[in-house]
Amino acid sequence: MGTPQCITHEHQVLIIGAGGAGLRAAIEAASTGINVGVVCKSLLGKAHTVMAEGGMAASMGNVDDRDNWRVHFADTMRGGQYLNNWRMAEIHARQAGDRVRELEAWGAIFDRTRDGKILQRNFGGHKYPRLAHVGDRTGLEMIRTLQDHGIHQGIEFYMEFTVLEILMDGDRVAGAVGYDREKGRFHIWKAPAIVLATGGIGRAFKITSNSWEYTGDGHALAYRAGAELKDMEFVQFHPTGMVWPPSVRGILVTEGVRGEGGVLRNSQGRRFMFDDIPDLYKNQTASDPEEGWRYVIGDKDAQRPPELLTRDHVARCIVREIREGRGSPHGGVYLDIAWIKEKMRNSEAHIRKKLPSMYHQFKQLAGVDITKDAMEVGPTTHYAMGGVNVDGQTQMSTVKGLFACGEVAAGLHGANRLGGNSLSDLVVFGKLAGEHAVEWAKSHPNPTIDSSQVQSICRAALEPLERSGGESPYEVQARLQDMMQDKVGIVRKESEMAEAIEGIASLRRKAASASVPGNIEYNPGWHTAVDLHNLLVVSEAVARCALDRKESRGAHFRDDYPAKDEAHASHNTIVYRGADGAMVVERREIPAMPKELSDIIKEMG
Ligand code: FUM
Repeated sequence: MGTPQCITHEHQVLIIGAGGAGLRAAIEAASTGINVGVVCKSLLGKAHTVMAEGGMAASMGNVDDRDNWRVHFADTMRGGQYLNNWRMAEIHARQAGDRVRELEAWGAIFDRTRDGKILQRNFGGHKYPRLAHVGDRTGLEMIRTLQDHGIHQGIEFYMEFTVLEILMDGDRVAGAVGYDREKGRFHIWKAPAIVLATGGIGRAFKITSNSWEYTGDGHALAYRAGAELKDMEFVQFHPTGMVWPPSVRGILVTEGVRGEGGVLRNSQGRRFMFDDIPDLYKNQTASDPEEGWRYVIGDKDAQRPPELLTRDHVARCIVREIREGRGSPHGGVYLDIAWIKEKMRNSEAHIRKKLPSMYHQFKQLAGVDITKDAMEVGPTTHYAMGGVNVDGQTQMSTVKGLFACGEVAAGLHGANRLGGNSLSDLVVFGKLAGEHAVEWAKSHPNPTIDSSQVQSICRAALEPLERSGGESPYEVQARLQDMMQDKVGIVRKESEMAEAIEGIASLRRKAASASVPGNIEYNPGWHTAVDLHNLLVVSEAVARCALDRKESRGAHFRDDYPAKDEAHASHNTIVYRGADGAMVVERREIPAMPKELSDIIKEMG
């Protein structure tokens, strides 16, 4: 093999990922006048951000003026079962409203209340209606707005590029190396500060709302660069994805459907969410669930239907119905919004106005008119609460000059994320990451690139193209996804997770001998072989962390330890690469919350 040629670029801040978090970080960094580059795996604007459809959580109090940042903070901590980075939860709750208003100033067109304020809707786990939204296309509107704003800021965008590794100069980052997916040419980006904003890991599972890009790239890049990952056991299975037809299985059905009054029923027509009301709400359940469709549980001043309990709980109730034989014909349950016609004149127009994407999605993909019939839905892998361990204020990881924000960063959501907190997370922490990356870049200029490091990365990347007769990367990927879905999915147990860890080791050996026909020019088999290394890292991290947490909490449910355990109540699970290259798992105590924050939690009950 000859010496691979590389094209070199230089930036003060390099951002990897161009969803809501990456774009917001880029805008912030560019606003200081420095030189910013953004690498996107796909085309600009194509990001999982669009899959947060129902809204962006911010306690603006436009619909219920009792809402404020303190209630939002307490809800986020409760939803995360107190494993959250409390500083991030505080910053997020305090700043989310400003970020919504900023998006509006940049051109986002939110739905309105009758008196012209930004409209906010109910969502699971939020005490008051809190989700600023644009029908069921809120993430799309956010991306459109950030993109329209961002392209005028002098940022350099690299579209359809994959980053292979972070380059190091001693213990600080020096840049990154990758290739363009169209021509297969290698590129070096020299940069003293890097912001990872690569999103999630959904493609490690078979059924997911994530598209092909979400192979845990940022998580794995950080891990291999020496950073810590945190709380990887917490993977959110959104309760409602499409289940039929098979080609669209996993596509998101927004929680906004339930926020607008949609109810869940089993094959017997029963609203099964009333069968497992958490103790906290038991005495507050209305006697007639059908009558009290909108206000059914919760304390008197903030009631909601049980379909809007937290996602982990709703997803498990759905799995119970399916497992116990009360599911729908294609292995889901029914989500019914059409029934509001009994309560509302013009319900069909109302549904089409509030949920236009869902209306078209079901009409075109499944032949179902949701204004008339119920949808078939089931859980889908949606979001990783775990990710790169960052400083709550600066978003810097445990590697100097390496920052992370959005889904790839851990902390804000603890054991379970509340719907709508993702969009606000992206812009609150995207902004902070951009700001602190600039500070770092200015005070640590001119890192040195080690060309031998670059050469060995490029040579390793080319190996699958130079072998023949090896494993197919597609085959390895499919086996990994099946295994993660079956053994490290919604309901977990020790023996299965141990099998998964062995299975991952064996698939890693197969991935190392994978071969791909063709050349470096647009070659999807080669891209898959490259992605596999990242998928294997994140899958191992999820399985090892899940095995270590011998309890059920938030999104992590164990059949063999179905209850919460105090012994696990106050630690995060950390993984990092040990000196021998093996993954090390460590429990780390969460620092005590300052009194002013714990007082809020007490006060909110
Ligand atoms: O259901 C949804 O619209 C998803 C929102 C989110 O994940 O935040």
